[in-house]
Amino acid sequence: KIIVLDFGSQYNQLITRRLRDFGVYSELLSHKLTAEEIKKINPKGIIFSGGPNSVYDPDAFKVDPEIFKLGIPILGICYGMQLMSYDLGGKVEKADNSEYGRADIEVLDEDTPLFKGLPKKQFVWMSHGDLVTKAPDGFEVTATSKNCPISSIADDKRKFYGIQFHAEVRNSEYGLDILRRFAFDVCGAKANWTMDDFIDLQIEHIRKEVGDKKVILGLSGGVDSSVTAVLIHKAIGDQLTCIFVDHGLLRKNEADQVMNALNRDLGVNIIKVDAADRFLGKLKGVTDPERKRKIIGKEFIEVFNEEAKKIPDADFLAQGTLYTDVIESGTDTAQTIKSHHNVGGLPKKLGFKLIEPLRKLFKDETRELGEKLGIPHELVWRQPFPGPGLGIRVIGEITPEKLEIVRESDAILRDEIKKAGLDEKIWQYFTVLPGIRSVGVMGDGRTYDYAVAIRAVTSIDGMTADFAKIPWDVLQKISVRIVNEVDHVNRILYDVTSKPPSTIEYE
Ligand code: XMP
Repeated sequence: KIIVLDFGSQYNQLITRRLRDFGVYSELLSHKLTAEEIKKINPKGIIFSGGPNSVYDPDAFKVDPEIFKLGIPILGICYGMQLMSYDLGGKVEKADNSEYGRADIEVLDEDTPLFKGLPKKQFVWMSHGDLVTKAPDGFEVTATSKNCPISSIADDKRKFYGIQFHAEVRNSEYGLDILRRFAFDVCGAKANWTMDDFIDLQIEHIRKEVGDKKVILGLSGGVDSSVTAVLIHKAIGDQLTCIFVDHGLLRKNEADQVMNALNRDLGVNIIKVDAADRFLGKLKGVTDPERKRKIIGKEFIEVFNEEAKKIPDADFLAQGTLYTDVIESGTDTAQTIKSHHNVGGLPKKLGFKLIEPLRKLFKDETRELGEKLGIPHELVWRQPFPGPGLGIRVIGEITPEKLEIVRESDAILRDEIKKAGLDEKIWQYFTVLPGIRSVGVMGDGRTYDYAVAIRAVTSIDGMTADFAKIPWDVLQKISVRIVNEVDHVNRILYDVTSKPPSTIEYE
């Protein structure tokens, strides 16, 4: 394996991700590990990640200098290269101009292992305020750019390498090739790691940690909690109990689909709580979006707690936290971008020990894992669905009648999008009931009924989005079907706003 030491870059887990994609097991670990501890892990190579610090900051992240004496190859990326240079006697200075974005580099030594066989001129992704102005003794400069004369350094004898740019992001033209060369040519790693190994490793880990104790998990039916449930079930069987709160705001057939796939077919122990009346009761008359969200969140936790109390000696709480949730909420080293908020996010003060087996994975890795664990493809590749569910897709007060309209129209939309083969091409697609009523004519009579809006967006991560350009003929089919099959709808609207300025959801 190759370990990545974490200096707080937003990209650091991407490095481990890339290596795993090559088939080399990789983990992100604390930069505080001592050389002794690293020796025990016995990695084939070490990567120092980037980070927001300057090596001159009084509280800059450091490494144990003994690491340089272990005889293990090291690649420093961005801050990692600066730190290595600084620690080994080179010089690091503040750049005249910080550099963010694309830069063209020129390879100076075509035989240097990281660039061997790659074009002499290539573009890379830079993001730094400091730069190395003198390489440490024993190093040669292997690549250069206009704003960063020392873009890459190499000490072939000790197998220490540094790159100022971020090879792990796609905006570096040959970034993946460079990482591959480090892993295979420099470290001699073998491509023999697969998702099956991850499953075995996690199962062993979960068994060891849990022992003969019990684990509970709040199942939302979403991808992350479902995969977590099945993985833990595989490790400890019925020592796991999932609590699936049906708040009455799920999509059509969703609860059955989840129960069939996980409980009936995979044998996961699930207590399904039908709490629809309770939630709808609390939501009666409430129109303010934030209040609706708060009520749903609070009620969810209460129902969960009541059920959890019925399970004697549950010591552990499992959660489907992914790496992106971890990094956005801030870690020891990474800065907080936004606090991860989810209806399923249960307070930590409940006194449980947490198990989060997906903490190191990205969403698409989680999906791959889910498929490996036997969860049906449709469940694993489902579009994101918010914790408050259809509750935030009925604008204003939620009534059973309005919920029925969104639920039925949403089912038709999903059916047609799937038939058109667009279901995995569009990030999210759903219907919304804006609460507008308008005049229509059906048969020979006047109607005064609801308008349903179609919201469909393309996105990479949900942070920004563009409206999806669903072909007119598909939209037409959807429109005709909804108006004909769902009572009290006489008009269909298509939302053509991006995010920003809109958000994906309406409330
Ligand atoms: P917005 O509406 O903010 O949504 O553009 C961005 C993404 O987040 C989802 N979303 C949520 N997911 N709990 C969740 O788990 C929530 O409370 C929540 N609110 C919004 C939304 O569906 C979109 O994918």
